[in-house]
Amino acid sequence: MKKQPVIFLLAALSLFAVVACTSKSKVKTRPDNGLHAEDTIRAHDTHVRDTGRQIKDAGRDRIRDVREVAGDAVDATNDAPPAFEITRFHGCNGPVDLKSVPVRNFIIAPYLILPKTNGITIQWEAMDDGPAYLLWGKKGHLTDCTCAPKPRRIPIDSTDVTTPDDGWLYSVTLTGLQPYTTYDYTLANARVPKANPKNSISRDAEWVAFGMAHFTTAPLPGKPFNLVVYGDNQPFALELKPVIDQIMKTDVDLVLHVGDIVHDGTIEEFRYDYFMAASPFTRNVPHLYIAGNHEGHGLKLPFDSFFPVPNRKPVMVDGEQVSPGPRTGYFDYGNVRFFLLDSERDMGEGSDQLKWLNAMLEETVKKHPEITWIFASWHRPTFTEAGRVFIGPREALHKVMKHWKVDVVWNGHNHLYEHFLQDGVVYIVTGGGGALLNLDVNGGTTYPEDNRIAAEGVYHFVHGTIGKTKAVFQAIRAADSKKGKAGTVIDTFTIYAKDRSSLR
Ligand SMILES: [Fe+2]
Repeated sequence: MKKQPVIFLLAALSLFAVVACTSKSKVKTRPDNGLHAEDTIRAHDTHVRDTGRQIKDAGRDRIRDVREVAGDAVDATNDAPPAFEITRFHGCNGPVDLKSVPVRNFIIAPYLILPKTNGITIQWEAMDDGPAYLLWGKKGHLTDCTCAPKPRRIPIDSTDVTTPDDGWLYSVTLTGLQPYTTYDYTLANARVPKANPKNSISRDAEWVAFGMAHFTTAPLPGKPFNLVVYGDNQPFALELKPVIDQIMKTDVDLVLHVGDIVHDGTIEEFRYDYFMAASPFTRNVPHLYIAGNHEGHGLKLPFDSFFPVPNRKPVMVDGEQVSPGPRTGYFDYGNVRFFLLDSERDMGEGSDQLKWLNAMLEETVKKHPEITWIFASWHRPTFTEAGRVFIGPREALHKVMKHWKVDVVWNGHNHLYEHFLQDGVVYIVTGGGGALLNLDVNGGTTYPEDNRIAAEGVYHFVHGTIGKTKAVFQAIRAADSKKGKAGTVIDTFTIYAKDRSSLR
């Protein structure tokens, strides 16, 4: 993660007064719905009370504490930057005056997904569906302006009883960028004043701006980068925050989240249990996500809107077209191919998901020699001695991992750190993002013959520096334990790129 001095940034921004959007689009306006973030938080608290939902070890007071702590963090980071000197810029429909900057208008602050060597996708949820602009440029110089496509409602499953209709999801994909380059960005959303909702948005709209953030594009294949893997924070925002704080002390270009981001998969949970705590991080560092068992698995749950899984193209297997499913795909970053899989759908022998995975691994090995690392990630642990094992598909999955010489399998679900080495394949359980810990690391030894190298029940994450043929990983404590303070190392391992020439 690249950081820049605030003073330099503000000074540079003060030189900047006008940016131009070159694209043209018609925008429609709608009246202010009168809802604000505070209202939504209140509605959520009401929902929590009415449904009787409780978080383990907690009640309503704890939920309020979570809101306050996480909210303070967001306010501190989001409210600070509006001092910048952009007061007027040329938007899609003419000049725009930034009249005010009440950042609370954003339900979900911008977050980064799908980083590529030449682009990235930035999404956010706002209270209004007015025009929005992303202002961006190389460090300290916001020289470009991109008009956001029209936002959309987030479709939810009928079982989601929370308030779905008060937000709009924006998504902007930037292209034409340079590899492994850091850019600054901010955004502005239009909001019609309540006092005069019929006013034209282009003449009298109130504009709200998000504070400054930055992103870094993906490196070219073969160039080193820093990866962090963690998971299983569920609704525990208070515990997630110190994990994120510890991660942010490291250099990190990309995060892989191994699932159980929230507790029930509802839209409110993503907003307030996850993003409110994670926003200072997710707005600056791109994330890959896989779905756990807590993300919900209806047809219209918000996970799929917030974190679309890339590269889900069907493949031909024995003359039949096989689709991977809605939450299964892959993503290339540097010289790593990440397979993102869904352990809530069948992954066993003969399943479409395993057929697809096997076929895509074959294609990767045979047609993409530039991919020197193959990582696979699904939520439920294939190898663990601490409890819940992914028993059904375990043998079939390991057979495929072993055959195609997959380097590392990243799992979560059990809330501890475990490191296995099985037939040359590294299996990591990293479920220490905030949920109640598995303190007994031998709490469920189903397969005592498995080769476990390290284990500890502690909040943690895994950090890796990945080069072309050598990768060094460290599992790092994010809280004090009997074995070490926060920030100390649980386990270190080095791996080297495998020779897959015999498989080609
Ligand atoms: Fe889980």
